[in-house]
Amino acid sequence: MQLRLIVGSFAAAATLVAIAGCRHLPPSKPASEWTPEEARGAQVFQHSCARCHYPTTTQGKQGPGLQAITKVPTMPSGAPPTDERLTAAILRGRGMMPAAELDDDQLRDLLAYIHTL
Ligand code: HEC
Repeated sequence: MQLRLIVGSFAAAATLVAIAGCRHLPPSKPASEWTPEEARGAQVFQHSCARCHYPTTTQGKQGPGLQAITKVPTMPSGAPPTDERLTAAILRGRGMMPAAELDDDQLRDLLAYIHTL
């Protein structure tokens, strides 16, 4: 009886922590498991995005950290992290973020990589 209560409150606490987010984001896919497409996307990220965004934390650089950006309900702007919204931000820019000049292949690879974060 008492044990069940204790287990129950641990579960409740874990749920609260999960809801509070940040500390318990789903894990990123390790580089050793990237597909060729994801690996090419990582290069595009290094070239076009890394100077302003950290990929492995939610901490801000020039722009918000992008860890788990496609796994959270909303991006910092409040928009859902769909490929459509991501593509719009990438190709058109947003606020202080400049538009990136990427061809279709680079964009597809980059989106695949962003999904691993
Ligand atoms: C010169 C710096 C800079 C570069 C380069 C840059 N960003 Fe950003 N990014 C920002 C800033 C600043 C914001 C916050 C914009 C805002 O909402 O006002 C942002 C926002 C974002 C967001 C969140 C959008 C939202 O709706 O909240 C995503 C996703 C993003 N950037 C992805 C990328 C990707 C992918 C690249 C590479 C193609 C990139 N950024 C290149 C500065 C940059």
